[in-house]
Amino acid sequence: MTAQAPTLRPILPTDLPALVDVYVDSIEELTQDDYDEEQRTAWIASAEDEQKFGAKLARGLTILAELDGEVAGFAMLEKGTIEMLYVHSAAARSGVASALCDALERLAAARGVKEMTVEASDTAFEFFRKRGYEANQRNSIERVGVWLANTTMKKPLVLETTQ
Ligand SMILES: CC(C)(COP(=O)(O)OP(=O)(O)OC[C@H]1O[C@@H](n2cnc3c(N)ncnc32)[C@H](O)[C@@H]1OP(=O)(O)O)[C@@H](O)C(=O)NCCC(=O)NCCS
Repeated sequence: MTAQAPTLRPILPTDLPALVDVYVDSIEELTQDDYDEEQRTAWIASAEDEQKFGAKLARGLTILAELDGEVAGFAMLEKGTIEMLYVHSAAARSGVASALCDALERLAAARGVKEMTVEASDTAFEFFRKRGYEANQRNSIERVGVWLANTTMKKPLVLETTQ
């Protein structure tokens, strides 16, 4: 994949296998410095049941980013919370997550959300900090009997006017 501007669009039901691939690859390849193998396996387990994973994505507003016609990443907004943000390792550090978050923050602001929230993984902490999110609290969450740490981060939103 090359470092061009990603194309964004809402997800379709037919995207589900590609979204699962991105989710699994992203966790396996990009989070190794922050989470051990047992933790990564527990994290990935939530996509084992593809239909259940698809139902979770459909709960919020989920958009994907394409580079060269391939799914490079996706993100899900539920109310004012970024519930998911995953980028394929082949597209990492190409601005894919930035483009996805720019879009979700604009959509949330247009819907009247005053403050964005994310439970940032340790891998994503620096990404969100650079976008103006501030750490609020440290959490330990349980996934299939394994504990993973993350940080609740918040950022105030300002509604852009067109004048
Ligand atoms: C965190 C993640 C979403 C970032 O995606 P990305 O597309 O690579 O991010 P971008 O290219 O838009 O990065 C923009 C800036 O954020 C910062 N940044 C991104 N990833 C970073 C990292 N791993 N460490 C430090 N800074 C990082 C950098 O300043 C980067 O700019 P630069 O590349 O010019 O230095 C991606 O690494 C990922 O999917 N991680 C695994 C899954 C995960 O943890 N998801 C978050 C769940 S809350």
